[in-house]
Amino acid sequence: MSRLPKLYIGTNTKMYKTIADTVAFLTELGRNTRDLSRDCMELFVIPSFTALDRVAPIARQHEITLGAQNMCWEDRGQFTGEISPLMLREVGVGIVEIGHSERRHCFGETDDMQNKKILCALRHGFTALLCIGETGPQKERGTADEVLRMQLKNGLAGVAPSQAKNVWIAYEPVWAIGVSGVPATKEYAAQRHQVIRKALIELWGEEAGGGVPVLYGGSVNGQNATELIQMPCIDGLFIGRSAWDPDNFAQIIRAVLREGAYCHS
Ligand code: PGA
Repeated sequence: MSRLPKLYIGTNTKMYKTIADTVAFLTELGRNTRDLSRDCMELFVIPSFTALDRVAPIARQHEITLGAQNMCWEDRGQFTGEISPLMLREVGVGIVEIGHSERRHCFGETDDMQNKKILCALRHGFTALLCIGETGPQKERGTADEVLRMQLKNGLAGVAPSQAKNVWIAYEPVWAIGVSGVPATKEYAAQRHQVIRKALIELWGEEAGGGVPVLYGGSVNGQNATELIQMPCIDGLFIGRSAWDPDNFAQIIRAVLREGAYCHS
C-alpha cells in the first residue's frame, strides 16, 4: 500500500497549558512553520477546552486545525461537566479526539462510549480521531492485535464507508505513552499499523478503509520520529511531550517532512 499524500502531525497538550500558554504556543508554532506548505501536511493542535475560543483565530491564521480532547455524545441535556458538539462547533473545532488512553484508563471510558462519541462527531461534521492501543500486559500476553481489532470494530460500529473520510486513527500503545513510557520500535509499530489497516479494510472496503490516516503516538521524540515515518504504513505522528515546545515541534515536523519526502521544502 502506498503512502498517503499528506503527513498527519499534531499534538494533544493534555492538561498542561493555560489559555496564555496555548496562545503563546500556537503563535510560535505558526511562526515556525509558516514556510511549510499545508498541502504537504495536516498540522493539528488539541488544547484544553478553555483555550479553544481564544486560540481559534490564531490557528486559522496559521492553517493549524484545532481539536478538542473529548466530547459528549449528546447535543444538550442533563450532563453536568460535559461539552457538547454544538459548543465545539461554535468555537471552530475541526477534530474531536476520542478514546485517548487517559480517558479509557483514568476515567473508565469504554468502547461503547467511544462508539457513541464517534457517531455523534461524524453527525456533526467533525473529523473523529479515535485513539486505540494495547496495555503492557496485553502486549506481554500476545493479545495486542485482538485488542486493537476489538477497539476498532466496536468503536467504529455503525460508521458507513462514506463517513470513513472523516475518521483518523491514532495507534498509541498504552505502555509507550507518557513519562514512564518506552517508545515502540518502528518494526513493532509497523506490524500493528498493518493489523489496523487490515481491520479498516474489512470494515469499509479497500478504497474507504485504505484512505484512513493511521498515526502513531507514544513517546515520539526528535530521535525516533524520522525512523517511524520511514515505515510506509505509518501515516503520521501524534506527539505529546516532545511537541509542547514549539521550536522542538517545528524541528520534528521539518525532519519528518524531509524523511518522508512529502514535499520539497
Ligand atoms: P507522549 O504522549 O508523546 O508524551 O508519550 C502521547 C499521547 O498521549 O498522545
